[in-house]
Amino acid sequence: MRFSICVANGDGIGPEIMAAVLDILEAAGVPFEPRFVEMGLAAYEAGHAIGISPEARTAIEETGLLLKGPMTTPKGKGVKSINVTARKLWSAYANKRTFRTLPGVETAFSRADRPINLTLVRENIEDTYGGVEHMLTQDVALCRRFITRPGSERLHRYAFDLARRDGRRLITCGHKANIMKLTDGLFVDTFYSVARDFPEIEARDLIVDDMAMKLVTKPESFEVIVLPNLQGDILSDLCAGLIGGLGFAPAANIGDHVSIFEAVHGSAPDIAGTGVANPSALLLSATMLLRHLGLVSHATAIESALSSTLAAGARTRDFGNAAHPALSTHDFAARIKAAVVRPAAHASSTLPRVPRTTKPTEPRMMVTEVRAGQNLVGADFFVESTLSPTALARQITEAVPPRYRLTMISNRGTQVWPNGSVLTDCIDQYRVRVESHDEGVDCVADMLRLGVSIHPIARLCSVEMLLTIDGKPAYSLAQGQPG
Ligand code: NAI
Ligand code: MG
Repeated sequence: MRFSICVANGDGIGPEIMAAVLDILEAAGVPFEPRFVEMGLAAYEAGHAIGISPEARTAIEETGLLLKGPMTTPKGKGVKSINVTARKLWSAYANKRTFRTLPGVETAFSRADRPINLTLVRENIEDTYGGVEHMLTQDVALCRRFITRPGSERLHRYAFDLARRDGRRLITCGHKANIMKLTDGLFVDTFYSVARDFPEIEARDLIVDDMAMKLVTKPESFEVIVLPNLQGDILSDLCAGLIGGLGFAPAANIGDHVSIFEAVHGSAPDIAGTGVANPSALLLSATMLLRHLGLVSHATAIESALSSTLAAGARTRDFGNAAHPALSTHDFAARIKAAVVRPAAHASSTLPRVPRTTKPTEPRMMVTEVRAGQNLVGADFFVESTLSPTALARQITEAVPPRYRLTMISNRGTQVWPNGSVLTDCIDQYRVRVESHDEGVDCVADMLRLGVSIHPIARLCSVEMLLTIDGKPAYSLAQGQPG
């Protein structure tokens, strides 16, 4: 009996490294049947707007598993990355990347006999990767950053579960909550609330720039790292650099229903078709898939074969001792294949179970059960104007009805009225904060009417409502605004 894995060859070097990897899985006796699906540049060019054919979508949702080659993002404005689309479409929310010192792959750390073994868990869906962007004026681009409580909570729970499973003792959350107190603040708060359920694991947090420095100077002091999307994207390439580069960095995109296993690297168009690509990262991604299914002995057999092949000096062009000749993708894979010690056949005839939930009929609504009281207390109006801050304040004060007051004007987040500095350079887009004098605003319509009355003074770009949640202000103060 064999189980199905959807396989997307990918673009560029994808088909070359995928063929090598499938060959090694076969040699290791993994009881699987690849189900090839149409996904990537070719699918996009065949008219499937998101780069995934409907048949591929059905098959991937049926099996819950995708082993994926790298995919080229079609050129042209407005075309989204197929890779990011796939992660979002199937809510593959946790991106797990393991970075381990490998024999034969020389780095500054391996030469100093300082082995690295760390796992990075990156949030995979939220943050600025929502790609919600607008030009507010001709001069001003704005990107929305989403950090959510349920999204952070399930990511942290995944990271702690993984740490527990792997017998890890320490988990470190990276963030920038000193600057982004609400977004990254929420990410860190949920980290520590989840940590309470894992008392045996030490939970720490580090500001991400400090983390970057410590990763470079003392990588062995980390075990599991958890990060928001963008920070995780950047630091995972940094970690790949620590262990010898992209050729050895595998990734798993874990979701509750569909999980995607792929190398961190892209389609390497510069070497595509020349048969020199390193298949190790995709191979290690495949062993992550095997571990995901509980096929630990097969995963270990393949990882040992890779290690012994590397230790014997076999190399592709992108790494290793240049004194040894570089092997082609095919020959390098053949060496690994020959080194595989097949594990004893699976004793039971049952197929491995794909860990996943049943498919819902509607998108799941993830929401915190206990609802906090919230109160509308004003609005931030984002307006376009080239007036000076004082002139703008004067005119808006006249337009605001007596039950509200103008409390602050900021430019690029810095308070410019009241008490600004003439040395704060401004651009043509202000945030104008209007708050209610008393307990609140009756309705959103009042705030929108107010926006309309401000519009003739300064063109309205957008409005953000000011709420208190559980009695506490649920909005940031401007830089320079007294707290
Ligand atoms: P890339 O990772 O494809 O290549 C960067 C450099 O690393 C190149 O010099 C390449 O030759 C080398 N390289 C990458 N993988 C290698 C391997 N297995 N063996 C030997 N050398 C390797 O990044 P690039 O050039 O920025 O992106 C190319 C395309 O791939 C773009 O269209 C990009 O959007 C896409 N991409 C796809 C990803 C995915 O499918 N998850 C991830 C990153 C990029
Ligand atoms: Mg990246």
